[in-house]
Amino acid sequence: MTTFPENLHLIDHPLVQHKLTLMRRKDASSNTFRTLLNEVSMLMAYEVTRDMPMQDIEIETPLETMTARVIDGKKLVFVSILRAGNGILGGMLSVVPGARVGHVGLYRDPKTLTAIEYYFKMPHDMHERDVIVVDPMLATGNSAIAAVERIKELNPKSIKFVCLLTCPEGIAALHKAHPDVPLYTAAIDRQLDEHGYILPGLGDAGDRIFGTK
Ligand code: URA
Repeated sequence: MTTFPENLHLIDHPLVQHKLTLMRRKDASSNTFRTLLNEVSMLMAYEVTRDMPMQDIEIETPLETMTARVIDGKKLVFVSILRAGNGILGGMLSVVPGARVGHVGLYRDPKTLTAIEYYFKMPHDMHERDVIVVDPMLATGNSAIAAVERIKELNPKSIKFVCLLTCPEGIAALHKAHPDVPLYTAAIDRQLDEHGYILPGLGDAGDRIFGTK
């Protein structure tokens, strides 16, 4: 039996599972796929930000003054792995609108499946921030590993990784390279195929979000 790392969080809420099933169907249009991904991302954000630091502030209610808790959204950075990660960003930002955004551009060499970086742009003062890296598919793990490696060079306070779907190979690879990075996913599928696609999966997430196939 496969055992998974303790810092793997499977988000198996019925709303998430239902929407994911609709997304997997090959006849879902790009518009439907994008809308569902946006909704699932909001629901996943709820889980991933559960332990966000909070601070007390004084506010006035219509009746009296009170001390109430707020988050400091600016301390959070969502890092999108281009291009499919952008499909998750909108949903996450609608839940934490004050968050900053970074982008990592990586493409998979079709022969070796290794990740090659072509773009890297992060907010300033990364050492003061908590990072949530987003990419819908954690497949071979190569892009995730390379992205996290680059982000670690900037010494952020913490890094989490969020995907919609993964597989045992992706989980093992990411955990081996970055055992300190908690992984959040809505599903663990059966396996990778010889082209690095997740089975049964949902196909190429970027193509499905942007209608490029
Ligand atoms: N990337 C995708 O978009 N889909 C997969 O199945 C694997 C990697």
